[in-house]
Order: sequence, then C-alpha cells, then structure tokens
Amino acid sequence: MWKTDVTDLTPAARQLLEQYSGIPPSDVLPHALALRDKAWDIAPYGCIGLLGFTSPSIQNHPHYAYILSHLKSVPGTTLLDLGCGFGQNLRQLALDGVPTSALSGADLSPSLIKCGYEYFRDQDTLQATFITHDVLNPADEFSKNAQGTFDIVWAALFFHLWGWDQQLEASVAASKLLKPVPGSVLVGWQIGATPAREVIRQSKDSGSELKWVMYQHDEASLTKMWEEVGRRTGTRWKVQAWYDVPSWLKDAPTFGGEGVGRTTFAIERLE
Ligand SMILES: C[S@@+](CC[C@H](N)C(=O)[O-])C[C@H]1O[C@@H](n2cnc3c(N)ncnc32)[C@H](O)[C@@H]1O
Repeated sequence: MWKTDVTDLTPAARQLLEQYSGIPPSDVLPHALALRDKAWDIAPYGCIGLLGFTSPSIQNHPHYAYILSHLKSVPGTTLLDLGCGFGQNLRQLALDGVPTSALSGADLSPSLIKCGYEYFRDQDTLQATFITHDVLNPADEFSKNAQGTFDIVWAALFFHLWGWDQQLEASVAASKLLKPVPGSVLVGWQIGATPAREVIRQSKDSGSELKWVMYQHDEASLTKMWEEVGRRTGTRWKVQAWYDVPSWLKDAPTFGGEGVGRTTFAIERLE
C-alpha cells in the first residue's frame, strides 16, 4: 500500500511539523516523503506507505478531552502508546500541552522509534520514554517490568495486525500494562468491519507476496474478546466501540472491501 501523487499532508500532520517541530511550511512535504522512503525500507506497513505515520489520530477519539484533562491536571497520570511507530500521537499530546515525561511509547521496531525522532526533530527536547517491546512475547522485559504502570494505553492501527488468537494474546498483555484499578482504560482504533470477521490479507508491495490474517472487529466481537480477557486475567471490562468509514479507507481497497471500516474503542477496567 503506497500512496502516489501526494500533493500535501493532512492539516493535522502539517500542523504537527510546523508548530511542534518548527519545520518551515515549504519543507514539510519533502521532509515527510524522505522519511517515508527511509521507514518503508525498514517496515513496509500500510501506515508508512499511505503516510499514516504523519497524521496523529488521538485528537479525534471520543474520549480525547478526558485523556487530555487527566494527563494535564492529575499528577502522576501516565499514558503508553502501544505499537507507537513514529510516535505521532505522543507528539500531538505534547503539542496540546501534556508534560512529555508522562508519556511512553513501545514498539517492536527500534528503527521506527529512531525515525520518529528524526521526523519530529525532537531528540533533545522530548522527555517521553521509548521502549523496544514485543507485545506477543510474555518473557519480554517490558511486559514483565511495566505491569500495572499505566493509567491509559493508546493503540492505533495496532491490534488488527493479527487474527483473533493473537489479538487476544496482545489484549491480555495490554490489559496487564494498565494500573489494576477501576478507570484504567485502553483507547484507540483499528481496521474493523460490520459484521466482524477474520480475513486473509494480501500485499505485493514489498516485492514478494505477503499473506496474513486480520480480525476486523465490531462492538459485539470486541466485547466478546474482552470477556475472554477478563476470564483469563480475573478482571472485568466495559467495552465501547464506534464504527465508521473514513474517506481514506474507501481509497485503500486492499484493506478489505464490503463492510470494512474503522472501529474506534474505549475499554475501561471495572474490576
Ligand atoms: C500499522 S503500524 C501503526 C503505528 C502507529 N500506532 C500509528 O498509529 O501510526 C503498527 C506498529 O506496530 C508495531 N508492531 C508490530 N508488531 C508488534 C509487536 N509484536 N509488539 C509491539 N509492536 C509491534 C510495528 O512496528 C508498527 O510500528
């Protein structure tokens, strides 16, 4: 998945580079395209080829006002961006006034984290913590050491990397990273569908043909998955989900055809 004929970034992506990174307006697009080439050689994800890494999305989440006010006004509140990639959502929080020492990002790829510093030019100023982490590996140091430390876990374009079984494993791992108190919350969005389904995805973008399984959730299937997370971990969760079909998804047919959309979620710990 590679976007051709790019004439500009989204307004939110442009605002981040101009206002957060201080990049002159005329340099914004060439800078973004150069970093896309670099990151594509490391990780040929749709979020790279389609320039998703440039656009923050956290500010569009229905709970954003709550997330922002908590991080800004309740001392000790912490947020983890799970599968952060470049970390554009952490930079959006920084632009919106969150003290960056409250923020962490975790990703399988240290190279994408490094690209994030290069893209946003904030290696010397950003106080967020970045960790190399495999959410599917229970023996991973971060999975063990960071259990129960975050009030909010944000995960965008992340859980849909897998089919049902691995999404369940990743969800169990994410649940354990949250503080073990009512009100801890996992928020984010992923490719979904109505009705929910598991599909085989195919891509020829990186030269050879890739095939992988993607479970596309709706609210009912997410609720079912989190009931299972609860059974496995002795916890209870309230699931909210919102389904819509953004225009960029209509332009990306490889995501899956009829019924495919975006499932935005908020999963709050009750017990
Ligand atoms: C589609 S990208 C989304 C990046 C970012 N969240 C965003 O909104 O642009 C998926 C990210 O998940 C990371 N990832 C893949 N497998 C992972 C794993 N097992 N543990 C942690 N991160 C993983 C990838 O390196 C990549 O940065």
